[in-house]
Parts: sequence; structure tokens; C-alpha cells
Amino acid sequence: MTDDLSLTTKRLLLRPITTADIPAYEKHFVDYEVIRHLARHVPWPYPDDGVKDWVENHILKLQGNDRWFWGLFLNQDIGELIGGIELWRPGNPENRGFWLGRAHWGHGYMTEATNAVTDFAFNQLNFEKLTFSNATGNARSAKIKQKCGARLLYKEPFAFVDPAYTEREVWELLKPV
Ligand SMILES: CC(C)(COP(=O)(O)OP(=O)(O)OC[C@H]1O[C@@H](n2cnc3c(N)ncnc32)[C@H](O)[C@@H]1OP(=O)(O)O)[C@@H](O)C(=O)NCCC(=O)NCCS
Repeated sequence: MTDDLSLTTKRLLLRPITTADIPAYEKHFVDYEVIRHLARHVPWPYPDDGVKDWVENHILKLQGNDRWFWGLFLNQDIGELIGGIELWRPGNPENRGFWLGRAHWGHGYMTEATNAVTDFAFNQLNFEKLTFSNATGNARSAKIKQKCGARLLYKEPFAFVDPAYTEREVWELLKPV
């Protein structure tokens, strides 16, 4: 584990994950209410070994190689992963993805976590700007972008797991000068 990536916030620990986190990842991620907001390349129904495959062959293999993944843990229970944030470059066009287990929505955790990762991206990883995207209509995710001061660049047709979503919003946040 690369401990130099670990970040702490008032209520959260963000740290690289290990294979020991796979059961909690499955518990919180494999939920249509979480996955339906993600890009269509994410499979649904979600395969039984999907999280294990993603963690072993994507997250752990690429960690630090222009891709960084943090598991989210409550300070009061650092044993159980409840969500994740990933950064990557170059963007396509976005540089970031995130998700949180439904049981933990609505407490400001992702706002807290993204603020810490944004600081790290600008100050430690030397990003000059971050590009974000979300389904048009994913109000929770859009609110997180609005609150950090990101600027809506454009909207375009895009496919998500939930076919009711047909468009995405693309946002930009510049490194403060
Ligand atoms: C998006 C997600 C990470 C948000 O996590 P969270 O910890 O609940 O987010 P926060 O509480 O930090 O912020 C959500 C904001 O949206 C607001 N919000 C919640 N429901 C809303 C709604 N229906 N309409 C508008 N705003 C809403 C909240 O009030 C909050 O804003 P506030 O802090 O000003 O009150 C979580 O809902 C999730 O994992 N969703 C499924 C996966 C996903 O959408 N990932 C992102 C793909 S782009």
C-alpha cells in the first residue's frame, strides 16, 4: 500500500485500498442506485466477480501510474470501505470519478472527500485543471461540482447505465492562482 497517498478530513480517511477491501467494496458498490448513474461501459447486471476483477486488474495494477484511487472510510470505522474516488490523466475528458454507498448519502461526505482530493491533485500531483462530468439529472453529483466552483463547459449526448439518462454535463475547475 502506498501510504503517502492517504488523506484525512474531519470525518474521513481516504487511502489506497487492498484486496482486503473487496468485500466492503462489493457491499456498497453493487447497488443499482449507485451504478445506474455511471457511464454505460459499467456492466449491469453487475458480474459476480466484477469488483474483484476491477480492484485487482485496474485499481491495484494502475495505482500511481497516472491513476490514483482512494477508498473512503469513516474515521469512526476505518475498517469498512464505504466509497471511492479516482483521478486519472489524461482526461477523457473527465479526470475524476466517485461513488458512495447509498447508506451514507446526504451527509456531505463526498463534498468533504472531493475537496481533499482536489487539493491533492493541484498541490501534489500538479494538475493545472480538473475536468468532471455527470449525467444531466444526477443532481447530487452536479451539486458537488457547483459547490467547489467548477464551471459548466458544455452538455452532450452520452449513455449511462440507466437509459433514462441521455446526456452528460462537462465541468472544469482550474487550479487557484
Ligand atoms: C453523488 C454521490 C457521491 C453524492 O454523495 P454525498 O456524500 O451524498 O454528497 P454530498 O452530501 O457531499 O453532496 C450532495 C449535495 O447534493 C444535494 N442533493 C441531495 N439530493 C439532491 C437532489 N435530489 N437534488 C439536488 N440536490 C440534492 C445535497 O443537499 C448536497 O448538497 P448540500 O451539501 O449543499 O446540501 C452519491 O449520491 C453517489 O454515490 N451516487 C451514485 C454514484 C454517482 O452518482 N457517482 C457520480 C457519477 S458522476
